[in-house]
Amino acid sequence: MNSGNSGSFVRAALEADLVPGGKLVLEINGKAILLCNSNSRVYAVANLCSHASEKLEGGRVSNGWIACPVHGARFDLATGRAKNPPAKQPIEVFETRIVDGWIEVQA
Ligand code: FES
Repeated sequence: MNSGNSGSFVRAALEADLVPGGKLVLEINGKAILLCNSNSRVYAVANLCSHASEKLEGGRVSNGWIACPVHGARFDLATGRAKNPPAKQPIEVFETRIVDGWIEVQA
């Protein structure tokens, strides 16, 4: 698992602004991060596909994965693992937590 858990938690967005199935694009500590709401959970991943460094933000989110909009690789939002080609490497994932209605990300 490629977990970027070196930093402290940063307040990122209001929980109410991330609807089920939705995404939010953010920059935290200079990192482009994508928040995703899937399976009643909030995930934070790098907004960068491991295959050809395209942005993931336009991709479909479903059942705990996101599909890259460019060549269709899917990534597990919890672990970053590539679920199908053409991607082989994982994407970076970040820990999240909810505090007082805010989504906080460890990045
Ligand atoms: S850039 Fe994402 S699968 Fe190719």
